[in-house]
Amino acid sequence: MRIILNLIIFLLLSISAYAEDGHHLWLRNSSPKPVNVVCTKNTPTLTLAREELRKGWMGEEGSQVTLTIKADKGIQKDGFLITKNSVQANYENGILYGVFELLRRQQTGETIQQEICNPSYERRILNHWDNLNGSVERGYAGSSIFWRKGSDSLTVTETDKTLWQEYARANASVGINGSVLNNVNASHFMLTNIYLQRVKAIADVLRPYGIKTYLSVKFSSPALVGGLKTSDPLNSEVAKWWKDKVKEIYGLIPDFGGFLVKANSEGQPGPQDFGRTHADGANMLADALNPFGGIVMWRAFVYSTSNEDRAKQAYLEFMPLDGQFRDNVIIQVKNGPIDFQPREPFSPLFGAMKKTTVMPELQITQEYLGHSIHLAFLAPMWEEFLKSDSYGKGPGSTVARCTDGSIFPQKYSAIAGVANIGMDVNWCGHHFAQANWYAFGRLAWNSSMKSEQIADEWIKLTFGRTINANLAISDQSIDWNLNFLSPVKQMMLDSREAIVDFMMPLGLHHIFSANGHYGPGPWWAPKGMRKDWTPPYFHQADTLGIGFDRTSSGSNGVGQYQEPLRSALTDLSTCPEAYLLWFHHLPWDYKMKSGRTLWDELCIHYDGGVQQIRQFQKIWDQAERFVDRERFVDVQKRLRDQSLNALEWKDGCLLYFQQFSKKPFPNNLERPTYNLDYLIEKDTKRVGDYHH
Ligand code: GCU
Repeated sequence: MRIILNLIIFLLLSISAYAEDGHHLWLRNSSPKPVNVVCTKNTPTLTLAREELRKGWMGEEGSQVTLTIKADKGIQKDGFLITKNSVQANYENGILYGVFELLRRQQTGETIQQEICNPSYERRILNHWDNLNGSVERGYAGSSIFWRKGSDSLTVTETDKTLWQEYARANASVGINGSVLNNVNASHFMLTNIYLQRVKAIADVLRPYGIKTYLSVKFSSPALVGGLKTSDPLNSEVAKWWKDKVKEIYGLIPDFGGFLVKANSEGQPGPQDFGRTHADGANMLADALNPFGGIVMWRAFVYSTSNEDRAKQAYLEFMPLDGQFRDNVIIQVKNGPIDFQPREPFSPLFGAMKKTTVMPELQITQEYLGHSIHLAFLAPMWEEFLKSDSYGKGPGSTVARCTDGSIFPQKYSAIAGVANIGMDVNWCGHHFAQANWYAFGRLAWNSSMKSEQIADEWIKLTFGRTINANLAISDQSIDWNLNFLSPVKQMMLDSREAIVDFMMPLGLHHIFSANGHYGPGPWWAPKGMRKDWTPPYFHQADTLGIGFDRTSSGSNGVGQYQEPLRSALTDLSTCPEAYLLWFHHLPWDYKMKSGRTLWDELCIHYDGGVQQIRQFQKIWDQAERFVDRERFVDVQKRLRDQSLNALEWKDGCLLYFQQFSKKPFPNNLERPTYNLDYLIEKDTKRVGDYHH
């Protein structure tokens, strides 16, 4: 009896050991082969590199792998040189990155020849919008991995450390080397000593993985924490308070990275509260950090008090300050001029600020792309952005080149991504959202990587055949590449455009539900609300047409772009249709390139998006035999929810706009399932966390 009981327990345990919860991300070493690692030095980072090789070696059995720290003219900063069985780097972080690259190539079956790999950006940073009470702003994967509420919230447990270590390892595997641990809407408590002690504990765990720790700071901290009468950046006591605080931080964390600041935006305090400029504020902090090698990342996401076109505000505020910032200040600019919409043209600040270091801020968490419910692979969006030509210094001045140091002189180069990580077992909520964390790291390392390759790697590492060897696909003749890799990769690559289609096609933007930023809300315009927080301000639909006129007859937003782009965007025959309604207000029967009217084209995009998500459902159903039950069912369920949400978007937007266009739906268009009143009421009832 006892034996049987033991057997049952053993069986249950082994089943649960196989339960696939996604926690291992893309780091799934299946059956490593013995390897002999030679490395003359011994440091915590090198020990990690050695361990990774032992845990994941899939090269020749019994190979000898040499790890060498030695400068080489071709190897820059964190870069490395790999061969089949060696890694050489300037310093130990490069060795770790090289080891991960070697292992990735082995697992994905890529060829390994002698090659130098250098990072595009020197600082590759995750921004966590984590609050000190454990909640995560715009987080859709559970609570914070760094902070929690409750009386023991500051106790550092072994569980905490294990989680931070796993997090750090995942970051290092894709080259991420910085983490901002708290929300840009920062609490002043962040700078109190009890919280800084926890930051030290986190930094100690992240350090061996090459990750620097940064903090978001509240500009009014001198008054709120230090009890000073003011936080005016030009006040000498204020400057001294920051200097002392910075010294205290470096006493705890000698390699501290610096500060991230959201100032004079959405109610946050800033230098303008004291009649000072962004440059005054940023420079004062930069001077405090400079002796320790720290940097200030000062955000350009601001609102002006004027009635200027929302899309123009950041440029209007920052361009006059170009050249006034210290060299350890970096202006952190969101990819688009508005706010992480499914599609935006690049912010005109890229390529325009020539005497100031500028860094891109991407949003990995899917605030406006269906949270962690929708399958949205974001690499195509970031690729489109990074390769956009700003013409800042002639043709070829892509956003990537304007920010990575290849065009403008700059002391540092950096890129940030707002993280999608939380306490959910699979870290990101949606299993496919892990691919966006992965993609951010890969693009930060190599900004010219193609989305296709990133998706290919990620699928192989996350769902690969060897990885899922325990699945009962006995028939080896079934081609995994053909039946799983290709369709799933295509689905990922198409996923962002499908979302653009059913949410905001042809350049529409900011028409989401105000309550939680999920679902449609083109109608939302409460009385007394700031106009540029309401969708009607952005879509401008009326009986004559739709779209925001940003040409010189409208807000002249195009004027912030450089020639020849400005003219190309102004001219209807050259403005890409993907940005048409971003830059132009056009009549409903405007003739599109397809020959259809604008109204019909809009309908076809919305409908096409819905149809495509249904197609994704089919692709995923057909992939069932290649995926473990747990992940299969989870993704299947989320696709169903996405499909329903897509329909709400299509019906909500088209029925709402139809009130203005007064035109019938094209004949072959699927008729609405919902009616408008129902969707508006549903939106009103949505539990809101409207931020503004
Ligand atoms: C968006 C987002 C906010 C966030 C802000 C920012 O508006 O909805 O939650 O605080 O961006 O980037 O500062």
